[in-house]
Amino acid sequence: MLTVRAPATSANLGSGFDVFGVAFERPADVVRVEKADRTTIEVTGVGAQYIPEDPEKNTVGAVAEALDAPAHIRIDKGVRPASGLGSSAASAAGAAVALNELYDRGKTREELVPIAAEGEAVVSGDAHADNVAPSILGGFTIARSDGVTNLRTDLPMVACLPEIVVSTRDARRVVPDGARMDEVVETVGNAATLTAGMARSDPGLVGRGMDDPIVTPARAELIDGYAAVREAAFEAGATGVTISGAGPAVLSVCREGTRRKVAAAMVDAFADAGVEARAYQTRVGDGARVY
Ligand code: HSE
Repeated sequence: MLTVRAPATSANLGSGFDVFGVAFERPADVVRVEKADRTTIEVTGVGAQYIPEDPEKNTVGAVAEALDAPAHIRIDKGVRPASGLGSSAASAAGAAVALNELYDRGKTREELVPIAAEGEAVVSGDAHADNVAPSILGGFTIARSDGVTNLRTDLPMVACLPEIVVSTRDARRVVPDGARMDEVVETVGNAATLTAGMARSDPGLVGRGMDDPIVTPARAELIDGYAAVREAAFEAGATGVTISGAGPAVLSVCREGTRRKVAAAMVDAFADAGVEARAYQTRVGDGARVY
């Protein structure tokens, strides 16, 4: 029997659509695996009632198959599904790390990223590595089709999760088919600024680089109260605010000592829009940990 804690994550960070991701210190999924003749899955925790236990339909079933590692897999969800906080990715990442260890498959953490991404495709429809990469590797990650670059960084963040459900499939339907050259140029500048900020653990630079003129405005329409929440977070001291992953969670990057105020401002602004929300005060953290 082996236990792995795999953290929630935030993908995109605005300017890095389908590319950037960060691991959070908290919340996390806990995945327990035990060798078996065939794969069975048991899910408990936050939103467990919405997650299929059929290995054909669960993210971790595909991971077990790819690693040829049948097991009894127990997932204790710390991350609500369809939250924008990498819920299915955390389970897939946790299972990949756990089964690799349990069966001594000898894959590196980098090699486990595409395997976990395939697992995630079972629920999201596409294989994106931008959530599984940080959940496996930790820190800030840049996921490309040919591999992942990963950077240690230290930043306070707030992830505010409203009681709205936005599925990744729906959020991808509203992504524009194309963009103007001036929007692309702006996005490249922002993404480069954000990366420099991550390398320096500088919340000002990271926040400055989070703006995205292409995808975020279209998705904001799916989140009641988004504009007011964004404004409230900035007023409370956030340096950057954007949609976390495909939403509906909203991510703020903060300076040291401002998280509590930013978290309260975001929850209050959602409440003013008639939406209940909870805020996770967190920071960029490590990747999946084996116990
Ligand atoms: N980059 C993805 C999206 C994250 O924004 O749709 C969810 O897999």
